[in-house]
Amino acid sequence: MMTGNPPRQATAVAQPNIALVKYWGKRNEKLNLPAVSSLSITLDALHTRTRVGFDEAFETDSFLLNGSPADATRVTACLDHLRALAGTDVRAAIVTENDYPTAAGLASSAAGFAALVVAADAALGLGLLPRALSLYARRGSGSAARSIFGGFVEMARGEREDGNDAVARALLDAHAWPLGVVIAVTSTSAKPVGSTEGMRATAASSPFYAAWVDSARADLTQARRAIMARDFGGLAAISEHSCLKMHGLGFAARPPLIYWNETTMACLHAVRELRAGGTPVFYTIDAGPQVKAVCLPEAIEDVAATLSGISGVLQVITSGLGAGARVVEDL
Ligand code: PMV
Repeated sequence: MMTGNPPRQATAVAQPNIALVKYWGKRNEKLNLPAVSSLSITLDALHTRTRVGFDEAFETDSFLLNGSPADATRVTACLDHLRALAGTDVRAAIVTENDYPTAAGLASSAAGFAALVVAADAALGLGLLPRALSLYARRGSGSAARSIFGGFVEMARGEREDGNDAVARALLDAHAWPLGVVIAVTSTSAKPVGSTEGMRATAASSPFYAAWVDSARADLTQARRAIMARDFGGLAAISEHSCLKMHGLGFAARPPLIYWNETTMACLHAVRELRAGGTPVFYTIDAGPQVKAVCLPEAIEDVAATLSGISGVLQVITSGLGAGARVVEDL
């Protein structure tokens, strides 16, 4: 409910998260409910800053992404849920800036919808709890539910038809087990097949899809245990397995879904070699060609040096683990 005189505008910052146990597939596309639970780490080096300003004078929502007008359809759909809660249909101007490549498999939609929901909640004076913020962020993008929280985050697929139990929760604070992440950017083009379309195609045609859904719960338990025990080797094994299993689904879809390029594969092998040589590092790859190498903090420099030396790697970004989405001062 709206209380007092709520501010009409607010700005929030959110960071992308990277799934170690992957979300792929929806149990309800309309409500955006995941078919499997997932587990992620929130980064600290990449930021999405979103300003939402509501104004009775606006006839439609407008969306400016990195300085250019962008399609507001998904943003409007997400804001409509919050407007309904606030009992208003006032339109908004949304201005979003990413300090990293957009839509190239660096989880910009995750940080984007998390920042949008946190900023809109503040601007409308709703005062939603993190669990509810996570739920509304999920309506925008499944992985966004996780960027509401920092550190290690678990996202439940939920069992309810209405999806009210499909929310994320914090598992472990970012400082409780500092890990490093080295992102090898191998392409800055937008991915050819978006995640919603890719998930739909995989569920419809990959013969491995049922096995993927059936085995997800055990993967999550294994990852959660490894995190609680600070067992890096255990987390490496289950994370790489979940990543390859997700991409394996796509390879077996008809037509096949291949997000990797040859540099992706070269990075994957380089990480395997580093680990064979004793460096604590593992890889994960989302719906794009970038490789994310997760390591213990002391290995960051070695991992970054190795990945930057690979032909085809355009840029290497290093990060630690960071905080969840939050309201910040307007610039
Ligand atoms: O949140 P979406 O709809 O962009 O889907 C994210 C899917 C992956 O990034 C590939 C996996 C994940 O769990 O983040």
